[in-house]
Formats: sequence, structure tokens, C-alpha cells
Amino acid sequence: MEKFVISGGKALKGTVRISGAKNAAVAILPAVLLADEPCTVENLPNISDVSTILKAMRELGAEVKLVNKTTVWIDPRGVDSYIVTKQMAEGMRASSYFMGALLGRMNRARVAPPGGCDFGVRPIDQHIKGFEALGAKVTIENGMVDAKAMELRGASIYLDVVSVGATINIMLAATKVKGLTVIENAAREPHIVDLANFLNSMGADIMGAGTGMIKIRGVEHLRGTDYSIIPDQIEAGTYMVAAAATMGDVVIDNVTPKHLESIAAKLKEMGATVEEGEESVRVCMSERPKRCNVKTMPHPGFPTDMQPQIATILAIADGTSIVTEGVWDSRFRYVEQLTLMGADIQVDGKMAVVTGVKELRSAPVKAVDLRAGAAMIIAGLMAEGITEIEEIDHIDRGYEEVVEKFSALGADIKRVYYPDNTTVLKQA
Ligand code: EPU
Repeated sequence: MEKFVISGGKALKGTVRISGAKNAAVAILPAVLLADEPCTVENLPNISDVSTILKAMRELGAEVKLVNKTTVWIDPRGVDSYIVTKQMAEGMRASSYFMGALLGRMNRARVAPPGGCDFGVRPIDQHIKGFEALGAKVTIENGMVDAKAMELRGASIYLDVVSVGATINIMLAATKVKGLTVIENAAREPHIVDLANFLNSMGADIMGAGTGMIKIRGVEHLRGTDYSIIPDQIEAGTYMVAAAATMGDVVIDNVTPKHLESIAAKLKEMGATVEEGEESVRVCMSERPKRCNVKTMPHPGFPTDMQPQIATILAIADGTSIVTEGVWDSRFRYVEQLTLMGADIQVDGKMAVVTGVKELRSAPVKAVDLRAGAAMIIAGLMAEGITEIEEIDHIDRGYEEVVEKFSALGADIKRVYYPDNTTVLKQA
């Protein structure tokens, strides 16, 4: 097993290059299954969520060749299975995108429900509502979601909640069906626009991505394409917060500054200087952060995937801040870990009251999920002394070369192997 060992208290300085967006990659790769020709996808993040999806695509019958560390060539023409087993879906939240992609390709999908981050119940009722509106019959048997149709047809779908996953899944299922599909109350995240751009580059007819109403006019064929994924908004935001939290001065490069506005606004409120370049942002901080309130919302609101990181910097702010979670029912499991490091945070339902302390102290902690893990890294970098973070496989799911990138900014962070005691106990 592996853990991160961080010797904190050093200001981050230098330049970090942001990788391709995880949440765009996990939608675009299954979307390749809709193509009638091979596709090349560039700027892929080198993370375990991506390798899990590529492995599943191979098992479905696609030919997958890594061109280099960030580029993959995929020929989907050999795909002859519509089944994504529990084993294939394990550990990947985005397995549900195989439902939309396989349904769109073969009118049939049998997919194990997603793994990934645990924020309590993660329903898929809006995905199912969308598939049914398109004409599929959806059942859940033996823990597998089964969707089938003789023929899908365009439909109007109003989402009861703004769901990234349901919006993407309906786009995937509807791209090649007859007629017009309209998604109302659609999610507007940058990765939804990226997926639409990818599909349109293959000949799809999708309009309105990035607004609350997406119109998809079905096309018969999708040709191959060569497409580069957008930079990762949340990886960039994580380094922005880490720069400010360590009183550092960091240029975050290869980003789309527009996607980072809500994060920049909060850091400015805390007293950081944020300078936007064309494809970069520079974040510097020279004083203790000021308190501020944060509420997470669907895009263009403050992203829920930055909530643990922003609460971590607020833990040392001058004053009391309120952090309200507006997307997930339960996303405060990391708070227990932060309190081990001396943070003063009281959670009440979807709200956390963060009373700033002067400093965090190092402690052994766990990455309870992906973004919680990012928050633990930030906390470890802030605290004097040695912080050990266990269960880092969550972090590896979504952050490329996290040790290398933080080390290049002057952080003292190492990946350390240690024996798995639970295995020893089981064997004893
Ligand atoms: N919801 C429903 N019914 C559904 C679907 C969602 O009630 O059928 C609810 C959820 O319970 C939640 C809200 O709608 O309260 C939003 O969920 P959404 O469907 O938007 O989330 P998701 O598609 O499962 C994606 C990201 C998450 C990110 C959320 C919100 C991917 C692979 N995952 O999840 O990212 O938190 O959108 O922005 O794109 C992460 O990267 O760390 C991560 C968890």
C-alpha cells in the first residue's frame, strides 16, 4: 500500500502545468463508442480513472493504442458486447456513461452501477428518465442496470435536478437517434461543452451545450476525429488554493481562466492576488486569509469539487466562514480528518461553520474521497511537521503526477510504500 508523507510549512513557488480534464475524459472516451471510424483523443490525464475506462473499452472489443502518455488512438469498430460487468466498473464513477454510449451504439446496455467517490446516495433516476423518454425499457436486475430498445427516438426531457451525469448520458444516447432531443434544465459544466464539441467534430448536431437547454438532432453516422481535451478546472483550482494556503506565488499554466472565475473570486475575497493570463493564472498570497462564505452550486457557481479544498484554506482564515454544500447531500466526511489536524469545523446538515485557527498541525489522516484527498494534501502543505495521508488511491484516480507537480513547486512530498496490515491480519 502507499501513502503520501508531507513535510509542510513551505511556500509553493514556480509554475505548474495542468493536465486534461478528468470529468471530460471520462465522458469523451465512452463517446468514442458511437463513432464509425477510429478516433484520436489528446491531452488525456494520466490517472487511474482513465486507465480503468480504457481497460473496459478493450474488454468491450475496442482496439486501444497509447500513442504517447497523453494521447490514445481508439478503433471502436470491433465492439460487440454491451455488458460492463461489476469488475469492469469497480472504482470508476463514470461507468454510467457506458449506458448512454452503448445504448446509443447498440440500442442495448447492461452496466454495473458506478463506484467512485462516496458522498452517500448517488441516484441515477434522471439518467433512467432520459433513457425511457428516448424509448428504452430500463430495468435493474442482479445489481445491473439493463436498458434496451427496438429503436430510440428523439424526445423532450426536463431534468428535475441539474445533473452532469444525466445530461451527458442523454447526449450520448441521443446523438445517433432519429429526430430532435431537447434537454431542459441541463447541466452547464465545461466538460459538457467539451463533450458536445467532441461529438460535433465527428459530425453530430448538438447545439446549446453550456446553456440550460441542449438540442440534439440525431445523425446517422459519426466519422473519426482527432480531438484535444480541455484543461482540468478542478486540478487547476486545487493548485490555486494550495498556492494561496501556503502563502506562495504560483503560475498555474495550460488553463482556461474563464472556468476558474468562481474560484479566483473567492481567493481574491480572502486577500490573494489572482492575475489572469491568456492560458494561465498566477496566485500569490502574503497574509493570513480573510474569512468568507462559500456556497457550492452547479456551473457557473462555485464547484462542489472544490469545496473540501476551499474549506481547508478557510480553516486558517481570520474569522468564521460558512461553507454550504448546494449539490451533494453529504460531502463533509473529510471534516473529521481536518479536525485531527486542529481545524475547528462544525457541520450541520449541508452547512459547515469554519472557525479559523492560527495554524493546522500535522497528523496522520486519510483521503476519504478524491477531493477530500486533495484537501488533505493542502492541509499537509500548510501544517508544520510531518503529515501522512493514507488511502491515496482516491487521489490517484483524479490527479496526474501529484507528487511530481507539488515537488516541482518546492513542496516536500513523497509517495511511500508500506505493508498492508489488514492482509497480514487476514493471513494470520
Ligand atoms: N442526482 C439525482 N438524480 C440523478 C443524478 C443526480 O438526484 O439521476 C443528484 C445527485 O444526488 C446530486 C446532484 O444531482 O445531488 C448532482 O449530481 P450529478 O449527476 O451532477 O453528479 P455526477 O454526474 O454523478 C459529476 C462529477 C462529480 C461532481 C458532480 C457535480 C463526473 C465523473 N463526476 O458527478 O465529480 O461532483 O458532477 O458537479 O463528472 C469529482 O470529480 O470529484 C466528482 C465527484
